[in-house]
Amino acid sequence: MRQTTANDKLHKNKVANYDKYYKTEELFGAPYPELIDFFKGYEPKGKILDLGCGQGRDSIPLARLGYKITGIDNSKVGIDQMNSIAEKEGLNVTGLVDDIYSFNNYQDFDIVLLDSIFHFEKRDIKQETDLIIKIINRLKVNGLICTCIQDTGNKVRILKDTIASSGFEFELLNDSSLNYLYVDRESGHESETKYCMYIVKKK
Ligand SMILES: C[S@@+](CC[C@H](N)C(=O)[O-])C[C@H]1O[C@@H](n2cnc3c(N)ncnc32)[C@H](O)[C@@H]1O
Repeated sequence: MRQTTANDKLHKNKVANYDKYYKTEELFGAPYPELIDFFKGYEPKGKILDLGCGQGRDSIPLARLGYKITGIDNSKVGIDQMNSIAEKEGLNVTGLVDDIYSFNNYQDFDIVLLDSIFHFEKRDIKQETDLIIKIINRLKVNGLICTCIQDTGNKVRILKDTIASSGFEFELLNDSSLNYLYVDRESGHESETKYCMYIVKKK
């Protein structure tokens, strides 16, 4: 049976926001090397919108690669941590405390990153798939959607079906399997979860 990850625990607890969990710095650990490698090689290094950016696990290393980042999260603690690192290093990162579901200006970005924010469980599937459709509708031609999602149950199939049935055409840039190793700092317990990194470009 699959082990429970930090993400599962937080979601099950219906946590309104992650403020209390983000007292632990770098709660989710290092970014996936595959994600960083992909964006290292990608050109042009344009504007990325990191939705549900948390503490900047992806935003900070992507800004170090030269991308211009806007990160949105409803955890003020996470956003403050990310903004403070960005400020110290002089990185092009703007972190905003807001609800990702009320954001609309997707046409202003070259890449929309959605890392570990979808659950596709009964209570959130409609809201989450509607968000994907909204992003697709507003994204510019040649814009990228990069999603990292747990590869359990039907999640990956739901993601791909939602994109495929959107009525827009996409070029597939990446569909790879990642192993995410989570280490619980308090207990030292390690758990490994299979993820899928799916990246498409709007035609
Ligand atoms: C599992 S964490 C992933 C964080 C980050 N993307 C990463 O991979 O490290 C999910 C994040 O989504 C944020 N989030 C969830 N629902 C949100 C909403 N409606 N508006 C803004 N942020 C939200 C949480 O605060 C949390 O930081």
